[in-house]
Amino acid sequence: MIVMGARPQFIKSAPVIHEFLRRHKVDLQLIHSGQHYDYELSQVFFEEMRLPPPLLDLKVGSGSHAIQTGKAMVRIERCIQRTKPDLALVPGDTNTTLAAALSAAKLGTPIGHIEAGARSYDMTMPEEINRRLTDHVSSMLFAPTRTTVHNLYAEGIPRKRVHLVGDTMVDALLTALPAASKLRKKALSGLDVHEGEYIVVTAHRPGNVDIPRRLNAIVGALVEASKRIKILFPAHPRIYKRLKSSNLMGKLRRSKNVVVTRPIGYLELVALLDTAAAVLTDSGGIQKEAFLLGVPCATMRRETEWPETVEAGANVMVDADKRKISAAILRAIEKPRPRRKPIYARNPFGDGRASIRIVDTILRAQ
Ligand code: UD1
Repeated sequence: MIVMGARPQFIKSAPVIHEFLRRHKVDLQLIHSGQHYDYELSQVFFEEMRLPPPLLDLKVGSGSHAIQTGKAMVRIERCIQRTKPDLALVPGDTNTTLAAALSAAKLGTPIGHIEAGARSYDMTMPEEINRRLTDHVSSMLFAPTRTTVHNLYAEGIPRKRVHLVGDTMVDALLTALPAASKLRKKALSGLDVHEGEYIVVTAHRPGNVDIPRRLNAIVGALVEASKRIKILFPAHPRIYKRLKSSNLMGKLRRSKNVVVTRPIGYLELVALLDTAAAVLTDSGGIQKEAFLLGVPCATMRRETEWPETVEAGANVMVDADKRKISAAILRAIEKPRPRRKPIYARNPFGDGRASIRIVDTILRAQ
């Protein structure tokens, strides 16, 4: 059983799902928790990544952390009791990940965690709580990088449970690139921008979006940067709502170089990211994607769970600090991008075969 429910989980799971389907050996059950339910945050990924429809949509929806996690736990528990899977596979660090892991653990169902061992060491992030707890009840921990392996060892997780497999986001990105490149021209001309002459911005973390002082600083920096470069801002519903209910959406829309849109699909995101001058984000996944595509990244957080990207000089932490954000954007505009993309070189996130290793490891253990 694979349990997923939020945008990044569809991306992380897709290569593993396809690998299982290729083997024809496994009765695979896909469960959608329903944590994300808008077309742009859910269905579009099933279409673009050609995923089979989930067996069940648990329709958990939005709510406080306890409500979302609790509802998901109750409904996932019922699924597990009904179908008795040999393994519950859970990707990432969302409330759906934690709910599935807890429900499975209490029923004695073995758990495999995709993207195990990532740590930001910032316990104010709900995702940090989710991934730590999930790792500690999992029996197969699929670690994407050497750093994540060491993080798990340092927490006393038995070594035989930890498997260094690489990051399934590399697998997904390599698969997406040809189709993304094909749609780039149309996407850019629709937005009236040219390759290399824009930056991509995404922000959705409660720690930025729900705190007016931080949201103000981010919007202030964007307005400032838009005097120098075009800004493409596909807005997650969380930030869209906050911008709309304050005067900040008006402020952004008055700067004619800022384009705020609804969330975009994975292929369009990869297409736009690949030829961006830089990306400004608070997402975990986009930090890795930018690194792999050789796009300079500024991350609007204090800590990152992907220190590999910072050590490689590809990512800088700018917090929600107007001055630091502006300086990072300026540096990216003025400094030409590296010619060779890390995705084609050796990189800490693996070679694009993580999903093969995950499926091999699981089948060997059955
Ligand atoms: C979740 C994950 C985060 C992941 C992110 C990717 C947790 C704790 N967080 O955060 O790890 O990086 O997804 O997007 O699990 N909403 C909609 N439509 C939707 C989904 C949500 O309008 O389809 C609204 C909700 O009403 C809510 C807000 O967006 O107000 C946040 O949704 P939620 O699922 O709580 O968390 P995310 O911020 O999306």
